[in-house]
Amino acid sequence: MSRLSLDAVVEPNETSGAVCIRAANASDVESLSIYFTRLSATTRNRRFMGARTDFAVLAAECVARAGHPDHLTLLAELRQEGRSTIIGETLYAYDTAARHGDFAISVADVFQRKGVGFQMITAMEQHASHRGHEMIAAETARANAEMRGLAKKAGFEDTGLGDWQSVHLAKRLMR
Ligand SMILES: CC(C)(COP(=O)(O)OP(=O)(O)OC[C@H]1O[C@@H](n2cnc3c(N)ncnc32)[C@H](O)[C@@H]1OP(=O)(O)O)[C@@H](O)C(=O)NCCC(=O)NCCS
Repeated sequence: MSRLSLDAVVEPNETSGAVCIRAANASDVESLSIYFTRLSATTRNRRFMGARTDFAVLAAECVARAGHPDHLTLLAELRQEGRSTIIGETLYAYDTAARHGDFAISVADVFQRKGVGFQMITAMEQHASHRGHEMIAAETARANAEMRGLAKKAGFEDTGLGDWQSVHLAKRLMR
């Protein structure tokens, strides 16, 4: 589990506590469903590349293969005064045939632009690297400046495989 001081990722005076990044498991379905429910429509649409309202199903899908070596859902959890709240998630799945992992990511609206997304991508890369995966990739809307900025900062490059609406981003992992 990765633990980072919230002081490092949240503006002073906003809140206090610690953000932990950990693997999700079956007991997280309900809290993950609540997390998806509370996202703004814009963030949700960007995360799922379209409108979805079946949050309990989405949450169940995210943890359905928990424990499988090629699948991972990471949660960023704010731990504060004895309470834990999910503030971000990333779903990673390795495609054996294509020999690369794909991921999707979201951060709760009020916690965006505080470094949480970057920390989750870093943790996901470490997991993929440990599993011997050589490449990770993601697809996002061409207009999604936040995701494109995050991916660029994390070292991803545009593969050119997208279309007029979407960008395909990939990064080769060091072994
Ligand atoms: C994309 C997303 C996960 C980024 O998470 P985040 O926690 O806000 O990102 P970080 O704070 O770690 O930002 C890391 C870098 O990303 C880039 N970035 C983040 N937000 C940005 C914005 N609004 N505009 C431009 N660049 C941005 C910056 O380079 C930033 O580094 P910096 O703060 O040092 O400049 C978040 O905006 C989100 O949940 N978006 C909606 C869902 C989505 O688009 N998912 C992607 C498709 S699966």
